[in-house]
Amino acid sequence: MSIERTLSILKPDATRRNITGKIISKFEENGLRIVASKRIRMTKAQAEAFYAVHKERPFYASLVESMTSGPVVVQVLEGQDAVALNRRIMGATNPAAADAGTIRAEFAESIEANSVHGSDSLENAAVEIAFFFSQTEIVG
Ligand code: CMP
Repeated sequence: MSIERTLSILKPDATRRNITGKIISKFEENGLRIVASKRIRMTKAQAEAFYAVHKERPFYASLVESMTSGPVVVQVLEGQDAVALNRRIMGATNPAAADAGTIRAEFAESIEANSVHGSDSLENAAVEIAFFFSQTEIVG
């Protein structure tokens, strides 16, 4: 058990429906702190680079289009075992498989428009945080 930081993205389907506050409450109620936050419109190049690991997948082009279809809120979440805790709070990628009470079970529209992204490992969290934030933007 250790204090970790992880990257969270509130996706365009969440900003479009004006439910970012409801989602952020889930993080805070479950013990995660928002130590950095900004609302941005991802460029196509940014979305392609961020999701480069998925570039051979059939859903890649559609994912990039969906992630650039509106503003997103990128955040750094901090807390005990933040990477795994955030993934529990988000629930399964496919909302149909997500546990009751999770963000995706409550809010996701589809497997693609699934309201939130969260880093899947501590190593990727460091890379993903550095993708969006400089050190001076993170205030613990
Ligand atoms: P995310 O956690 O942001 O990581 C990759 C994203 O790709 C995922 O959430 C979904 O938005 C999307 N994704 C994953 N699997 C599928 C799929 N089978 N069809 C469409 N989109 C998917």
